[in-house]
Amino acid sequence: MMSKEVVVSGIRPTGFLHLGNYFGAMRNYVRMQDDYDCYFFVADQHSLTTHPDTTALRNSVLRVLAENIACGLDPDKVALYVQSDVPETAELYLYLNMLAYKGELEKTVTFKEKVRLQPDNVNAGLLTYPVLMSADILIQRAVKVPVGKDQEQHLEMARNFADRFNNRYTEVFPLPQPFNFGNTLTKILSLDGNGKMSKSENQMATIYLADEDEMIRKKIMKAKTDSGPVEANAVKPGYIENLFTLMNITSDTATISKFEQDFNTCIIRYGDMKKQLAEDMIRFITPIREKANDIQNDQAYLDKIMKQGAAKARARASETLRLVRKAMRFS
Ligand code: ADP
Ligand code: TRP
Repeated sequence: MMSKEVVVSGIRPTGFLHLGNYFGAMRNYVRMQDDYDCYFFVADQHSLTTHPDTTALRNSVLRVLAENIACGLDPDKVALYVQSDVPETAELYLYLNMLAYKGELEKTVTFKEKVRLQPDNVNAGLLTYPVLMSADILIQRAVKVPVGKDQEQHLEMARNFADRFNNRYTEVFPLPQPFNFGNTLTKILSLDGNGKMSKSENQMATIYLADEDEMIRKKIMKAKTDSGPVEANAVKPGYIENLFTLMNITSDTATISKFEQDFNTCIIRYGDMKKQLAEDMIRFITPIREKANDIQNDQAYLDKIMKQGAAKARARASETLRLVRKAMRFS
């Protein structure tokens, strides 16, 4: 039997998961779980770069795990674990740091953005974030990494670090590629049309998997639209395209093509479209929210999952570290 390709991805526990996380990441995780050897983790150590207060961290970790399972991940098929339970990653991070240059780290788009957002806490961990992320991936010798478009540059850096390691010492790492079903990486925009949907910015323009029905209605009805297209088959502005993207994942094909056609013939009523989208979205989110709540309350089950995931992740991670140390002539 051919061995399955190894896949790694992580989500930071910095708040409730939203539709961007679902479509950029989790949906792909679920679709990959049968055909790949998957390692999915909650990146709790990564949160420290922006959220140093750990009081609520444990709870967030449990919530993210519960939401992943509620979305369809099967912890018996994939290794589902918590980053801080795999200490091997930290040692690889140390070695990779010697292969990463200050200049390239400072040029990273996400670093520059974080510097702008938190000028009083530009810590070294923030600067070396892409190195820790590379260590998460390379410690499992992964070849595919399902992520949203915002992570593309980090993946390119991971390939550079892997390549430098291979060239300097011995070939240990395959070069990891970003992955999405379909050819382009997804980006779900914020409902106000400003930037991407994200966990901590602009909560009224973000739909969370934990949102109650009324909240979903309220947010979607407030989504940015305009007075409609003035010529047939016009190009959609980003915020309208985004509503169609959301509809594409939650509504049935007849509904989608009706509104597509209404758009193309300039008779679209965005109020009607949003009402329909809200109801379809509620039908999509409610079972996930309810299931996640049940799982989150089952502490014993989550403990078992985390242990099982960590054991699987550590087994492969220690094997990688053995190869790394050997390549570096440490032992
Ligand atoms: P956030 O940006 O909300 O803090 P994370 O950084 O933890 O979320 O991202 C977890 C995963 O979700 C990553 O693979 C990321 O690319 C994806 N993701 C986050 N926001 C979006 C979005 N708006 N559209 C598509 N994918 C996204
Ligand atoms: N940097 C990713 C994000 O902000 C989260 C992450 C950490 C990750 N380590 C990873 C994603 C390894 C994929 C693989 O979304």
